[in-house]
Amino acid sequence: MLGVAANDQGARSAQADLTALAGPLSSLSKNRCRVFWSAPLEGAGNTQQAQDWIDAAAPRPILDGRFVSRPGLFAWDRIDPASALLAEHIDPDWRGRAADLGGGWGYLSSQLLARCPGITALDLFEAQAQALPLARLNLGAHADRVTLGLHWHDVTRGLAQRYDVVVTNPPFHAQGRADDPALGQAFIAAATQAMAPGGKLLLVANRHLPYEAALQRGFGKVSLLAQRDGFKLFLATAPR
Ligand SMILES: C[S@@+](CC[C@H](N)C(=O)[O-])C[C@H]1O[C@@H](n2cnc3c(N)ncnc32)[C@H](O)[C@@H]1O
Repeated sequence: MLGVAANDQGARSAQADLTALAGPLSSLSKNRCRVFWSAPLEGAGNTQQAQDWIDAAAPRPILDGRFVSRPGLFAWDRIDPASALLAEHIDPDWRGRAADLGGGWGYLSSQLLARCPGITALDLFEAQAQALPLARLNLGAHADRVTLGLHWHDVTRGLAQRYDVVVTNPPFHAQGRADDPALGQAFIAAATQAMAPGGKLLLVANRHLPYEAALQRGFGKVSLLAQRDGFKLFLATAPR
């Protein structure tokens, strides 16, 4: 068995995990990355440990059975307070094509579809592939009415379609890293470039993150709709 990871993206814990499966490892570190490998195994390694991890991460009902989720996803068993703030400010009159950037297990998408009967298509983009089958289940109630697209996609690489409505609670750090405002700023740039004429972006963020300049670069009008619990919520309209 062989593993590789960047030091600042969990190399040490990945090596410990592989040790638990495959026994003592050899390793090499270079360019702030680490590669680690086992000797040829006699059998399949510690299959009980592997099964325990699979069981621990199994999908399960959450929030009184209203949704399905699994450990390892962002806010996997609860509604994130920033996302709750965003959901409260969704305008039921919004219509057309929508996108949810960094959609996780689908909470914001579910709220958008439940509150806006005029939304006809929704694309959810998410970097963690394990979230997508769960988002599909969580949005299933709307599948007859709305064209759903669930995309394993790095939003910072941009979007291929145009949208009338974009919602996002963007990530604010990569795995194992300190706050990285560039990530959220790249989400804003992707949303800006994907706006249909008259499109709007509803974005929630930790209050200290510097997203205002990126929003003002992309939109003619940026309104601070709410602040609560250390979060701020922006509505950006009039895309440039
Ligand atoms: C703050 S969470 C919000 C999740 C969900 N929308 C919610 O409200 O609970 C940000 C999400 O963005 C995802 N993410 C991180 N980097 C990403 C990227 N480059 N492209 C797409 N999604 C990404 C994370 O996996 C996470 O699910």
